[in-house]
Amino acid sequence: MKHIITSVFALLVIMNAKAQKKTEEKTQVVLSDEEIKPLLLKNACIGCHKKDKKLVGPAFKEIAKRNYSNERILELIYKPEPKNWPEYKTPMAPLSFVTKEDGLKLAAWINSLK
Ligand code: HEC
Repeated sequence: MKHIITSVFALLVIMNAKAQKKTEEKTQVVLSDEEIKPLLLKNACIGCHKKDKKLVGPAFKEIAKRNYSNERILELIYKPEPKNWPEYKTPMAPLSFVTKEDGLKLAAWINSLK
């Protein structure tokens, strides 16, 4: 009996890990420019960034050249490091309201621009 419980538990853990991996993979799918627009708008990125032109912040194409991982970009959205861009006078505000899912979609899209 104990064995059965242990195996069922192990199975559940494995299934859960698999399901989690799936959602992670899903958020890495790169959205098209049209699909990303509402997210850029909703999360206020558009006020300071353009795809290929400098605005208040660097062009997303320039950011893509830094070769950050998607996770690192998510981290930088939550905790910007203005020292990485000394030539920009207004620093980026920490955007804690961006959901992890949105953040990773934005990151994957930014990284697709290089
Ligand atoms: C208030 C203006 C502003 C908003 C809003 C804003 N940014 Fe920024 N962003 C900047 C500036 C300025 C920089 C460069 C200086 C810095 O990092 O502080 C920057 C830098 C970045 C970087 C590079 C970070 C690094 O350290 O290399 C990423 C990635 C980024 N922004 C993504 C986003 C995303 C995604 C959004 C929307 C969720 C967003 N930004 C919203 C102004 C903004």
